[in-house]
Amino acid sequence: MNLCMIGTGYVGLVSGVCFSDLGNQVVCVDKDKDKINLLNKGRVPIYEPGLDEMLKRNFKFGRISFSTDINKAIESSDIIFICVGTPTSKKNNSADLTHVYRVANDIKKNIKKFKIIVTKSTVPVTTGDKIEKIIAKKVNKKKFEIVSNPEFLREGEAIRDFIYPDRIVIGTQNKKVNRVLKNLYEPLVNKGAKYLNTSRRAAELIKYASNAFLATKITYINEISNLCEKIGVNVEDISIGMGLDKRIGTRFLRAGPAYGGSCFPKDTKAIAIIADQYKSNLSIIKSTIKSNENRRNLFKKRTFQIMKNKIKNKTITFLGVTFKANTDDMRESMCLKMIPVFLKKGAKLRYYDPSGKKKEINKKVKFCKNIQEACLKTDLIIIHTEWNEFKSLDFKNLVKKNNFKIYDMRNIYSSAKMKQKKINYFSVGR
Ligand code: UDX
Repeated sequence: MNLCMIGTGYVGLVSGVCFSDLGNQVVCVDKDKDKINLLNKGRVPIYEPGLDEMLKRNFKFGRISFSTDINKAIESSDIIFICVGTPTSKKNNSADLTHVYRVANDIKKNIKKFKIIVTKSTVPVTTGDKIEKIIAKKVNKKKFEIVSNPEFLREGEAIRDFIYPDRIVIGTQNKKVNRVLKNLYEPLVNKGAKYLNTSRRAAELIKYASNAFLATKITYINEISNLCEKIGVNVEDISIGMGLDKRIGTRFLRAGPAYGGSCFPKDTKAIAIIADQYKSNLSIIKSTIKSNENRRNLFKKRTFQIMKNKIKNKTITFLGVTFKANTDDMRESMCLKMIPVFLKKGAKLRYYDPSGKKKEINKKVKFCKNIQEACLKTDLIIIHTEWNEFKSLDFKNLVKKNNFKIYDMRNIYSSAKMKQKKINYFSVGR
């Protein structure tokens, strides 16, 4: 099939490359010329394991191309995927739909034969209706169909999540269009993915409700971990004990820092606002948002306690600064809230991040090229993300001084082994 992905962010690029790998002809469009130039050289602008190789392979076979010419791309495609960003609005906490509506206006100028227009961007319920209205101002309704097909990709695992999804949700009541999309996704359905056809509004809501639920599940275990610290119980025993109940399940029950990233913080706020607009109070999700904000303060406070409030002139090393491992994404990363406070208190900060590139954080925070440089003679190591590189370090050999401390925010190491090694070690909920 001829597909067009509008927006080459995470969702658009990963989906475009994966669709081309399934044998479709894909054109990816973006208004960012530099990005398109980079992609046309076969280079990937984001850190996503496996994406580079897959892109190069399909690029070589001519199954995927990159362009800034949105008109031509729309004209030559049967299915158009809207994959532009829907960040939190600057005015309130709702999703900013400027890019989505701009694309809808571009699409309406280029419909000559029947087009299926699919929103993959996370959009509030009824956005599909609004896109339909915009396009119907210029084009006969028989010539297009708007479908919602939310994406559930995790950064760092996006390719695997695309190829082996738990479910594919298609929101349309048009039977013919549903058949076309079922055909497109058939290779994934054959590998075991469940295919679910719902109304468009239901599909839009499934995405928000899922992300808000996962964020709540994490927040739940995070709060339980606070209690575990007070009673001297290991939160990992609780996670396993709870997760073995199939109704609960083990995943997304790892206690750690405040959740971050491009989706959970944005989507929890957006669904709460949508509900308010419909005069329905999502009090549980509102509590999740609040609890996650409090967690950032809690971890700051905990760090001060670990350092016995002596932060001035102390060296603090962050191992990992992104919001989680296997990504270079800094959005809503918890360390961004900690760094200014530590700097203000006179700490000397350093970081090393396996994603490689220097990050846009305060210039006073020293970027280190490797773990050795980051850890040498430091006073406190904060294990902020759980990259494999951090999982079997010989800390005494790295730090080369006595009395350093470790705050393992991801519970990578065993407290007992650290005690044996006489390392001052602190973790979460145990
Ligand atoms: C998420 C959803 O998982 C994905 O389906 C959606 O489409 C986009 O948002 P992503 O933001 O890439 O994906 O990362 P995810 O792996 O879900 O982690 C989100 C946050 O939760 C991170 O800060 C992570 O560290 C945290 N987390 C996750 C935990 O603290 N504990 C867990 O058990 C799982």
